[in-house]
Amino acid sequence: MPRRRQATLRSTASAPFPLALIPAIPLCMTQPPDLNIFLVAPPGLEPVLAEEARERGFEGVTVTEGGVAVRGGWPEVWRANLELRGAGRVLVRLGAFRAMHLAQLDKRARKFPWGEVLRPDVPVKVEATCRASRIYHAGAAAQRIEAALREAAGMTVSAEAGLRVMVRIEDDLCTISVDSSGESLHKRGHKEAVGKAPMRETLAALFLRQCGFRGDEPVVDPMCGSGTFVIEAAEIAAGLKPGRARRFAFEDLATFDAAAWEAMRDGGAAVAPAVRFFGSDRDAGAVRMAAANAARAGVDEWVTFRQQGASEAVPPEGGPGLVIVNPPYGARIGNKRLLYPLYGALGQVLRERFAGWRVGIVTSEAGLAKATGLPFLPAGPKVAHGGLGVTLFRTGPLG
Ligand SMILES: C[S@@+](CC[C@H](N)C(=O)[O-])C[C@H]1O[C@@H](n2cnc3c(N)ncnc32)[C@H](O)[C@@H]1O
Repeated sequence: MPRRRQATLRSTASAPFPLALIPAIPLCMTQPPDLNIFLVAPPGLEPVLAEEARERGFEGVTVTEGGVAVRGGWPEVWRANLELRGAGRVLVRLGAFRAMHLAQLDKRARKFPWGEVLRPDVPVKVEATCRASRIYHAGAAAQRIEAALREAAGMTVSAEAGLRVMVRIEDDLCTISVDSSGESLHKRGHKEAVGKAPMRETLAALFLRQCGFRGDEPVVDPMCGSGTFVIEAAEIAAGLKPGRARRFAFEDLATFDAAAWEAMRDGGAAVAPAVRFFGSDRDAGAVRMAAANAARAGVDEWVTFRQQGASEAVPPEGGPGLVIVNPPYGARIGNKRLLYPLYGALGQVLRERFAGWRVGIVTSEAGLAKATGLPFLPAGPKVAHGGLGVTLFRTGPLG
């Protein structure tokens, strides 16, 4: 086997795409396009996103560190952005070539078929990373790619561009990807009002999935803040597409087909869920915010938000179902000490009133979860969120 090909078949745990899947030629040159599509996931929750991708009919689903690889053409790239609730963003690998030094990077980047995917009238920015490679200066690598884009392909390069070309040089292999999402996918496009510590929608969707929620049971969040869990649950139950109300970076690519995209985005109507979704918070402002967010998301018919303390929570009709909540958690020790009674009281309410319901609690401290006295299953992984690691603690149906 020639040396160049061998290098492309090596695999490393931290590569954004499993290198075993990377052919030596730019993929966009193959007919029909068979792209490596990478769905970014919070480390630890990759298998949960993989399950969602499989359920949504994506092919070649492979779990890797930091995400999930799937295969398909550009319509699958659009559909991943539109439909997958757990993906943080969707990256598309455009190709890879060996680059042992900057002059080689420069030469090969100038031959790269940029024009098959990028448009000269849409500015791009370049981000580069280097790892375990002879080229170790990411800034210099980015400059070479920018020069190739400008001078050989006639593209517009700007640090302010919304469209991102990502260059990763690892083991002397230069992999070029484009970020097809643009703004992070947790920005669904209908949430204007956020509280102090909002849960990211993508993470909320993955936690709901880990709790076994599939849209056919009521959900209660007794400390709902801006209403993320409740709104996400109602959207899932109604079969709404998470990306229906926002723009994506792929709309600026040469591969975009506006008519086909609009048909995909607008196809399939929402169905009124058979169950209802409930949020409450002691803070009146949070409740107003949650209701406004639900209205913007178009799920206000199926959700109820009310101002009340968690100690007043009672199970709504239509259960049993799922209680999912991320109570306040703090980074400072003193702050944490004040939280134990709050968690204890929440646990007592759930144990005494919510027989048959399952509970999911997202918090930063195993000790706080333990203070609820709830019978948790083995805890999931710690997931980075808001500068802290948070964990989902789940129960089976309460006795
Ligand atoms: C971490 S935030 C929840 C964020 C929410 N998941 C979101 O996505 O916006 C915690 C929430 O718990 C509420 N809270 C704190 N103590 C409470 C109590 N005793 N009863 C009800 N809500 C409470 C706070 O007002 C705050 O909105």
